[in-house]
Parts: sequence; C-alpha cells; structure tokens
Amino acid sequence: NAQQATVMVNASPGSATTISKHIYGHFAEHLGRCIYGGFYVGDTSKIPNTAGVRNDIVEALKKLQIPNLRWPGGCFADTYHWKDGVGPKDKRPSIVNTNWGNVTEDNSFGTHDFLNMCKLLNADPYISGNVGSGTAQELADWVQYTNFENKSPMSDWRRQNGQDQPWNVKFWGIGNEAWGCGGNMTAEYYANEYRKFATFMPNSAKAPLYRIASGASGADYNWTETLMKNIPHWMLSGVGVHHYSVIDWNKKSSATDYSEAQYFLTMKEAWKMEEIVTKHAAVMDKYDPQKKVAMIVDEWGGWYDVEPNTNPGFLYQQNTMRDAMIAGITLNTFNNHADRVRMANLAQCVNVLQAVILTDKEKMILTPTYHVMEMYKVHQDATLLPIQLATSDYVVGTEKLPAVTASASKDAGGKTHISLTNIDTKNTQVITINIEGGQYTSVTGRILTSNKLQNYNSFEEPDKIKPAAFNGASLKGNALTLKLPPFSVVVLELK
Ligand code: AHR
Repeated sequence: NAQQATVMVNASPGSATTISKHIYGHFAEHLGRCIYGGFYVGDTSKIPNTAGVRNDIVEALKKLQIPNLRWPGGCFADTYHWKDGVGPKDKRPSIVNTNWGNVTEDNSFGTHDFLNMCKLLNADPYISGNVGSGTAQELADWVQYTNFENKSPMSDWRRQNGQDQPWNVKFWGIGNEAWGCGGNMTAEYYANEYRKFATFMPNSAKAPLYRIASGASGADYNWTETLMKNIPHWMLSGVGVHHYSVIDWNKKSSATDYSEAQYFLTMKEAWKMEEIVTKHAAVMDKYDPQKKVAMIVDEWGGWYDVEPNTNPGFLYQQNTMRDAMIAGITLNTFNNHADRVRMANLAQCVNVLQAVILTDKEKMILTPTYHVMEMYKVHQDATLLPIQLATSDYVVGTEKLPAVTASASKDAGGKTHISLTNIDTKNTQVITINIEGGQYTSVTGRILTSNKLQNYNSFEEPDKIKPAAFNGASLKGNALTLKLPPFSVVVLELK
C-alpha cells in the first residue's frame, strides 16, 4: 500500500540557525554495565584497551563523531563524591551504588579516567555535579581540580595524581532530576540550591563554565517556568528536560517481543517529544525571548523491561527497529527546534537502555540506534533548513499519528541533507520534496530498515540491520520524489 507526503524545504532561510553538534550527545552513568564491564574493563583485561577503556568502543564512537558525553549520572551523580575516585586506585574507597542494584564499586573509574577517555573520543565532557548529597564546596573543588591552571590546593592535587594541565571542562550539570532521585526538591527550593552551588563554582575567562540546571520531567512546564523566573540568566546557560519513550512505568513490556499496539504506544511517546520541546520552549521564550538560555534534553530514549535473566537494576535491553524509529523521530524534532535545543543526550551509550553499543565480554555490536545516529551525523553543526511537511497518518485501531517526520540542513561544504522517517508498519510513503532556492545536480542516499519490525542485531548476527545505499530518489530540477518503505529511516544527500 502507498500513501503520500509532501515536504517543502526552504534552502535559503532569512536567518541562519545552526544545528548544534551537541544535539548528538551521549550519556554514560555508573549503572549496570555502562561504565564497569562496558566502557571500562581495566588495564589488565585481555580485551584491547587504552588505560582500561575498550579500544573497539572508542573507535565506534569516534565514527559517530560523538560530540559530548555526560557522566557520572543520572541518579548516581547525586550520590557520587568525586574525591573517592582520584589518586592511586588501590587506595580508593569502595562505594555502594544505591540507585542501581546496590552493587559495590571500587572507584577504579574516576575523574581522570573519564576526562582522559573523553580526550580519546574527541568528545567534550559534561559532568553532572552532586547537589542532592554533596556540598557547594565539593562541587567548587571539583571545578578547581579539573580547570584551574595555577597553583591551588586542588590543582596541586591533580598534578600529584599525574595530570599537569587542566582539562578545562566546560559543561557542568548542577544536580540531576532534583525533583526525584536528586533530592525530591520543589522547583523553588532547587532554584535556590542552584543559585548557591553555581555561585561558588570557580569561573574563569580561560575556562568559562556552561552551567546546566536539572530540568523537568517530561511535561512539567511549571518546573521550567520556576527555574527561568528564579535563576538569574547570567548564571544559567541551559535548562535540562528528560523524556523517555516508555509505554507504562509499571508495565514497560519486552524490548523485542512486542505487538503493533505496543509499538504504536512507543511511537506516541517518541512523538510527544515534539510537544514537550515546543511547550518548554514557549515558557522559555516568555522569560528569555532572545533565546540565550539553551534547552538541554539530557536524557531521552526508549525504556523497556530488562532482558530476561539480567539484573533488573542494570537496565540492559535489546534494541530493534522500533528504537531506530524513536531515534529518527526524536533527532528530527531536535534539529527542527535547534534555535532552542542546543544539546541532548541519548540514554545511554553502552549496555543501558537505548544503547548504541552492546557488549558481551570481548564481543561488541552496534545497534540500529547507532546506525541512525551515524546516518544523521551529517546534520552536526550544519545550518538548519526549515521545512513544511504534509503527511498521511499511521493508523492503529482508533488512534493515529503522523506517519512521516523530516528535517533538513546544509553543511559547511554546501551539501544539503534531508533525513526522513516513516513509522507506518504497512504503508510505503510516496514523498515529494520541493526545495525552494536550492540548485542540485545529484542525489544519493542511505536507508536503514529490515524485513521485520522486531528485528535486532545480536552477538550471533551482529550485522542483521545496517545502513544500505538508497537509490530510490529521483531529482528533477528542485523536486525530488522517493518511496519511503514501512518502518524505515532515510538520509538523502544533495549536491
Ligand atoms: O537513565 C536512567 C535514569 O533515568 C537516570 O539515572 C535518571 O536520571 C533517570 O530517571
């Protein structure tokens, strides 16, 4: 079956908006096998590593052009005392990860390990500070430890621990989910805490801080309003927002064994990001019409039941074409809102929730979500080309959702990219694209799809789902036509 959609792309917008590369950011929490047994295997491991960090993961993430990595949480961040994780590893105290399975951690992965790993990845670190159970002094010390160039108690300690030059960490989160695991605070109380913690973080011209407030849960617009109203904007670079595509928090359902009705509900949640971002942006516009404060969606992704026979506290789940569709829709949403959304972090990078990488001892696989992020990386730091989209609906029972999403950008080399998703499981979409003000002579493309929605890459079949060349688009002047198959993601390149 075929349905129609039309996309109008404005190739010469009046004012230019850059799609920040940081929209394509990732998140690595001390949770399950994300850090320990994921990124970090220790330098005595047989798995090839650099200072304990897996080389295969580093290579895969460099191919994604991972722009930033958020660490150490999540909920873990507000229990983490960074001083436990520096200095000789055999002297570091153990801690219990109370949020995630009560496992004991030996603190062998700490600040140096994380920041040096970010260097390997060419990614900017984004550190979440501990507000819930930490002190303003502790966070101030952390900043001095990582960023201070001259002599000071903390920079001397850093040098003693083997790092001469400061890392100049720019991105700092002031707590995480302060309304929940980060301290169960009210928005008003947290706004005051933010002001206090931010005040004592040593800022300098050489290493200016980008301070991010712990944001709302989904559609809690009052949270954003309270922060925007009560925190002076000179100390507020960004406000967070978290939204997960979860069907029902009490009955999340299997990551791989799901019905069309469950798939539809997940798509509905993925689509909700559009509304959430739009409404938080409207609140921010009220207090910051010049859009100086960024919206930072520092947790997003699909959340299902853990894989059978795995620790429920470790949030390890498989990743199917459904996840590819979440990624395709959500990244199009962020691109189209790039005037306000300037950073986002998929939860999470390795072995946790909607991971881009899964590992099993020495084996590593790339998930469908990885491939979508790799295909979409062409949008990083490109100029947004605004679009208008008319699409048919994807109908399940009495409910419907728009079948197609799209976004477009022009990169520094003059190439235009258009990313498209079709969430409909049955209908092909015949798409007509008109590009006003552009001139092209060729079009190429890549597609990610599979013959079954529930398909995934496994350790036995690691390449079952991977991008393929897409030759189905034809270009006539400034008009393109193509057929977008059911549950597929396509990225076109025009020159
Ligand atoms: O990503 C998993 C958890 O989800 C994070 O620790 C927390 O911030 C959120 O509730």
